[in-house]
Amino acid sequence: MPLVDLFTFTRAELTSPVQVVGGRWVVSDHDDVRAVLADPVTYLPDNALTAVTPVAPSALRALVRARFSLPPTLANNGSSSHAGLRRLVASFFTPARVAAAEPRIRALVAERLGGTDLVRDLAWDLPAIVLMELLGLENVDIPTLKRWSTGSLEFFWGDVTRERQMELVDDVGDFHQWLVKRYHARDGELFCALADAGVSAEDSAGLCYFLLIAGQETTTQLLSTALRRALQDRALWARLPEPGVAESFVEDVLRTETPVVTWRRLTAREVVLSGVRVPAGAELVLLLSGKETDPRHLAFGYGRHFCLGAGLARLEAAVTLRTVATHEPSLHLTGPDPEWLQLLSFRAPRSVTVAR
Ligand code: HEM
Repeated sequence: MPLVDLFTFTRAELTSPVQVVGGRWVVSDHDDVRAVLADPVTYLPDNALTAVTPVAPSALRALVRARFSLPPTLANNGSSSHAGLRRLVASFFTPARVAAAEPRIRALVAERLGGTDLVRDLAWDLPAIVLMELLGLENVDIPTLKRWSTGSLEFFWGDVTRERQMELVDDVGDFHQWLVKRYHARDGELFCALADAGVSAEDSAGLCYFLLIAGQETTTQLLSTALRRALQDRALWARLPEPGVAESFVEDVLRTETPVVTWRRLTAREVVLSGVRVPAGAELVLLLSGKETDPRHLAFGYGRHFCLGAGLARLEAAVTLRTVATHEPSLHLTGPDPEWLQLLSFRAPRSVTVAR
C-alpha cells in the first residue's frame, strides 16, 4: 500500500475513517469530525497552532530571543478566556460591517483586472487590504505582512527542514515584535480595543499573530482555487455574473476543495471514533474537505471555535468571481499546471496564469 503523506494526502487516498498517518490520527468521516469539533472538553483545541515539524533548537533560540509566544487566545484556547476574546474580535466582523465592505472589495478587484497571473495580481494582496481596513489598522506595508504571514504558515504547518526553519524564523519573530510594538503604541482600532479590554501585550500579540494570518492567507488561497476552478468550466464562467451563481459556486469549492483542508484537536481522554480506539493525548487531524456527493461541509469548522471570518471570506470570494467574470468573459487558463502550496492545513495553487 502506498504511504499516505501528511502534507499532500487527499480523501481518496485514505482507506479508513480513522487512520494513523505520520504519528497523527487522521479523522475523515463527516459525523466524526463534527462530533469532535462540537466537544471541546473531550477534544481540546490546544494544539491548533503547534508547529507540525518540531522546532529545532537553533530556531527555538531565535524565537526566544524575539520573545515569541503563542499563549491560548482564540483557535488554540480551550479556557474560559476564549469567549471574551472571541466577542471582542467578532465585533469587527459583524454582518453589517462585512456587508459594508462589498463596494470596497469590488473596487479593489476592478483595480486589479488585466494581469496575467490572478494569484500574484489579484488574490495575493486583496484580502490583506480588506482585513487591515476592517480592523482599523493603517500604514501597514502589505508586501511585508504577506512575507511574514506566508513564512509563518510554512514554519508552523509545513514539512520544513532545519535549514528552512532558520530561513523563516526571522519573519516569524519580526511579525510578532511588530505586533507588540503596535499594541504598546495603541496604533490602530484593534490594538486600542485589546488594550482597553485589559488584554496583555503578550496575549494581544498572540491573538493578532493568528488573526492577521488566518484573516487573509486563507482567503488568498480560496480566491486562487475558486478562480482556477471557475476558469476550467466555460459554461460556469459565462453564468457567474448572474445573481447567486458565484455564491453557490463558492460553497461548492468550500465543500470539495477548501483551502483549510484539515484542522487539529488533542484527545483529553481515550475515545472511540468509527469503532477505532484512540488514546488520550492523541493528535487528531480532522479532514474538513468533503466528498463530491455530500452537500454538507465543515470548511469553517463547527461549534465554539467556528470561523469568525466565514461571512467575509464568502463575500470576498463571490464578489471577486462575479467581478472578474463580468469584466473578462473571454478570460481563459493558459500555461502548465501550477505549483501548489502544500501544508498540513493549507492547500491552494500558487499561480493561476491566464490569457484573454
Ligand atoms: C476561506 C477562508 C477561511 C477558511 C476556510 C477558514 C477556516 C477556519 C477554520 C477551519 C477554523 C477553525 C474552526 C474550528 O476550530 O471549529 C477557523 C477559525 C478561525 N478563523 Fe477562519 N477561515 C477563513 C477565513 C477567515 C477570515 C477572513 C478571518 C478573519 C476574520 C478568519 C478568522 C478566524 C478566527 C479568528 C478563528 C478562530 C475562532 C475561535 O477560535 O473562536 N478566518 N477558520
